[in-house]
Amino acid sequence: MKKLQVGIIGAGGVARTIHVPGLRMCPEAGIAAVCDENIGAARALEAGEAVTSYPELLARRDVDAVVVATPNYLHREIALAALEAGKHVLCEKPLALNLAEAREMADAAERSGLVHMTAFTYRYAPAIQYLRHLVDTGELGRIRTVRAAYLMALSKHLLGWRSTRRQAGSGVLADIGSHLIHLVQFLCGDIAALSASQRRFRDDPASDVEDWIAFLAEFESGARGTFEISRVCAGRGAGITEDIFIELYGTQGSALFSLQDPWGVRVLSGEAAEDPSSVLERRAVPEQFLKLPGSPRDPNQGDPRWGYRYDQAFQFVESVRLGKPRAPSFTDGLRCQAVLEAALQSCETRGWVKV
Ligand SMILES: NC(=O)c1ccc[n+]([C@@H]2O[C@H](COP(=O)([O-])OP(=O)(O)OC[C@H]3O[C@@H](n4cnc5c(N)ncnc54)[C@H](O)[C@@H]3O)[C@@H](O)[C@H]2O)c1
Repeated sequence: MKKLQVGIIGAGGVARTIHVPGLRMCPEAGIAAVCDENIGAARALEAGEAVTSYPELLARRDVDAVVVATPNYLHREIALAALEAGKHVLCEKPLALNLAEAREMADAAERSGLVHMTAFTYRYAPAIQYLRHLVDTGELGRIRTVRAAYLMALSKHLLGWRSTRRQAGSGVLADIGSHLIHLVQFLCGDIAALSASQRRFRDDPASDVEDWIAFLAEFESGARGTFEISRVCAGRGAGITEDIFIELYGTQGSALFSLQDPWGVRVLSGEAAEDPSSVLERRAVPEQFLKLPGSPRDPNQGDPRWGYRYDQAFQFVESVRLGKPRAPSFTDGLRCQAVLEAALQSCETRGWVKV
């Protein structure tokens, strides 16, 4: 069977550490070309032909699908051009700079009949897949409250395009808050309304975006939640050491996730949950959740805090082979973008905003 040929647009950090190794693990995919405006960056990936113009890459008949891994301000323009050229698209998060752009992209993707996907990479963490199973099977009952945080230390790579609204959309909210919001909506359904507060603590005259934001949320289900997102938390790490916490408290039990322990969850459920003196205990994630069904990845290879990210490439390739978009699609990217927009609006109006 002919291999699916992928083109990568944007040869920076995420392409190097997630997309290229993920695609290389898929026996049914190849990388035909890499585009970066910096030819040295494109060549350094040592994957297919290196080019500097994305229209040139999109014009290639040997490219079936593309990964858009450029800074956020280019996602809309490149993803729309890719769909127009008939290419399936895996686009990095946040999908766009704002809600209007994200809606335009999701509409175009839905109309195209092509496969479209937003790179919400952390949902492939085994413990997240298992938490979703606990929610779906009712082990926790109805979720009443959620406590979610994504905290990291200030890292040099956060300077540059990530520090301006024009290029990033917003600061820590767009950059890592988008992941957290997607994960919580994946587990608990959509957020209906929120009230937010933000601040820039870092002394950087070149930046016009927040590096801390928190909000109180009401879910469509009636659940309530708190979110805190920060990139100024010394000691919370950067890259593989940064941490996401999600705590779910339901009518029948509770479950806690930490990105630093992706093969375990702390759970209390069943009869024990009826005893107020019981506390959560760590439960190993069952074997069947350690990778997506069918993924060629060996979960025992490498650091468990990193490897699951490669399942994203597997899902993209498999979706194209099956010919159908699956979550997280551009529509999931749009749902997340609606929350980002509401949070920014709430910070400005200093009041509750409907999503
Ligand atoms: N899913 C994840 O876990 C994850 C992790 C990191 C970054 N991201 C996202 O991936 C995207 C890229 O982030 P990054 O950390 O790799 O950034 P980066 O700055 O390391 O890389 C971006 C690359 O895009 C290139 N580029 C800029 N303009 C271009 C153009 N017109 N044509 C072609 N290439 C161009 C730059 O030269 C650079 O090499 C962002 O949207 C970011 O939010 C996602």
